[in-house]
Formats: sequence, structure tokens, C-alpha cells
Amino acid sequence: MFIAANWKMNLDKRLILEFSNNLNDFKFSNQVEACIFPPMTYVDYLNQLVSKLPISVGGQNCHYKNFGAFTGEVSPKFLQDTGCEYVIVGHSERRTFNNENNNEIKLRAQSAVDTNLKVILCVGENLSDRKNGHASEFVEKQLLECLPNNFENSLIAYEPIWSIGTGRIPNYYEINEMHENIKKIILQTINKEIKVLYGGSVNLANINNILDIPNVDGVLVGGASLKAKDFLAIYTAAVKHLQKNHIT
Ligand code: PGA
Repeated sequence: MFIAANWKMNLDKRLILEFSNNLNDFKFSNQVEACIFPPMTYVDYLNQLVSKLPISVGGQNCHYKNFGAFTGEVSPKFLQDTGCEYVIVGHSERRTFNNENNNEIKLRAQSAVDTNLKVILCVGENLSDRKNGHASEFVEKQLLECLPNNFENSLIAYEPIWSIGTGRIPNYYEINEMHENIKKIILQTINKEIKVLYGGSVNLANINNILDIPNVDGVLVGGASLKAKDFLAIYTAAVKHLQKNHIT
């Protein structure tokens, strides 16, 4: 089970310190992996603050080159250098606001994998594709066009665009069906099973139902991960889910 906290462009140094102070007395489980994705400028800072805790820190994006004249970009090598284990690639906000297309996302994902980072590759349809019954087709195309080589240690996050930050989520049957499809495509493509996370308006009210969906292996949480109390409650829900289902 995997809990990813995508802070996006939120929390400053003071709030990050406050957040991490609230983690110190918490009893983490070795069954649930957690990774926090802070703003790039605080990756190093957060990494130092949680260095004694079983929490990884990752980048919210990375470039497809390790060095070069790319003003404002962050290289996978730099993320790895600062102790990152994971990087999110292809988040819909990057696709929308920074015009990253499947081709570029594949390059970024490949570069990250080649630098020994584990990628959380985001895919997800918009509302009109969901309404027209084209969601699976859309996500399959994204997957096939974005998947880099050697993806074995990485993860997929299914994040319907219309669900991110809106409070609306697909029904549980739709989530299960999409995850099942994604797993099938990955298995056919790389001959390996990988974890598929659900993301989009995950919160304390729906976390238990989402974790109960058979093909969900964890969650990518935005807004509800910004307060330590909520982040830990989501983490605890994952631990309890495993205990309930006797998964050790
Ligand atoms: P949200 O964001 O949980 O605030 O909807 C999720 C994401 O964009 O990763």
C-alpha cells in the first residue's frame, strides 16, 4: 500500500517544519509506504526533517536532461542528489499549464528511470471523455505513449482530471474497472505487475471506500495531505485496511 502526498505549490518553510514536527511521535507501519512531494525548493529541507522517519521525499516533476541550458527546470540527477527516491511525471496540471504532451512526458519519465528514480506516472481522462464513454481508450493511449523502458519499479497514478481538487470522484466500479485495465495494459507491455494509485479528491470521508476497491494499491493525495493530522489519518486508514484484510 502506498500513500503519496502531492503538496503542489503549497506550504512554506515554517509550515513544513510544523508538519514534520507532527510526524515525530507517530508510529509508522512497515506495510504502508509514504512519500511526500513538496515544492522543489523544499525537497532538501523536508528530506533532512524526515531523515529518521520511514517517509520518502520526491520531486513533483523533472526534466528529460540531467544538465543543460534549461532555465527554471529541475534535473532528475539533482533530485536524486538531494535524496529523492520518487518523482511524479505527467501530472495533469503540468500537462495543462505547461503544455507537456505524451511525447515529452515519456522523455521525462525515461530520464527519471535512467537516473534510478522511481516514477509515479499520472494518467487520467477529462470529463467529456468520461461522459462519452471514451475514458478507457483515452487512458490507454496516454499509457502507451508515455510509458518509458524499464518501468518495473515505478507506479501509475490514475487521476481523472475532472476529479482533481473538485470533490467529485468516479464511482467505485469505474475506478476499479480503470485500474484493472491499466494493470492489464502494463502487464502486456512490460510483463510485470505494478501498483496503481488512485488520485483526485481523496479525503477523510472517502478514503476507506477507495482503499476497499480491489485494484487500488494506494492513493495520491493533494489537498487532503496538507495538514499532518489529515495525512496521518489517511495513512492510518491504509494501515487499518491492511489489518482488516489480514494483509501482512
Ligand atoms: P486533490 O489533488 O487530492 O487535491 O484532488 C490530487 C492530485 O492532483 O494529485
